[in-house]
Amino acid sequence: MEPRFWLQKWESRQTGFHQETVNEALKSCWSAVEVPAGGTVLAPLCGKSLDMRWLAEQGHAVVGVELSPVACRAFFKAIGRPPRVSGAGAFRTWNAEGYRILEGDFLNATPADIGAVSAFYDRAALVAMPPAMQTAYAGRLLSLLPSGATGLLICFEYPPDSMQGPPFSISESRLRELLGANARLRRLSSTRVRTRGTALEGRGLETLMETAYRVQVTG
Ligand SMILES: C[S@@+](CC[C@H](N)C(=O)[O-])C[C@H]1O[C@@H](n2cnc3c(N)ncnc32)[C@H](O)[C@@H]1O
Repeated sequence: MEPRFWLQKWESRQTGFHQETVNEALKSCWSAVEVPAGGTVLAPLCGKSLDMRWLAEQGHAVVGVELSPVACRAFFKAIGRPPRVSGAGAFRTWNAEGYRILEGDFLNATPADIGAVSAFYDRAALVAMPPAMQTAYAGRLLSLLPSGATGLLICFEYPPDSMQGPPFSISESRLRELLGANARLRRLSSTRVRTRGTALEGRGLETLMETAYRVQVTG
């Protein structure tokens, strides 16, 4: 999707993807990701996810990347921490103790922008990208992580013909193809989610699978 698509979603408050509670797979699977204590976690396409607060509560510093200033502002308001906002150019930075959110396009992020990280957390980020952009997303993600880094990647899977994304359906074989030879993948959980009462139901989808994978960068 073009940046304009997402910026408009935030401006018109069409943010049905946002969860008011911490993601269950994050809580149940995070220990299996084996992130070093105090390790910094990269959260691409972070929205205003409260999962970032949960990660900070586990002792991690969090670096998010998000296109929308509306989302950045709303996140810091929700956690009750007034951010310091600085910078211009490719990224504006929203900072509060333990959190740094880069406002801009993740596909342009460099290791110098992100800094040192030892893990990542992707919930509804890869699946937000149309197939033609998924390769760029996966390549960018791997380029920002050191060898040995681990992460939790939460995908949605449904019969691709039943709905037009986003979110796009990502199968395990597609994920393996996207991550390539420089990442090891292990499925940690798979949960059937009912879409009743959500915008996805209105788009023709009754259920989907939410699958969490542990990813380890090897290359
Ligand atoms: C489906 S939402 C998921 C948000 C968050 N991960 C969550 O679980 O609530 C996708 C988010 O990615 C952001 N986004 C989309 N494309 C992006 C890009 N190229 N760079 C940075 N953020 C992007 C959107 O603004 C939106 O907030």
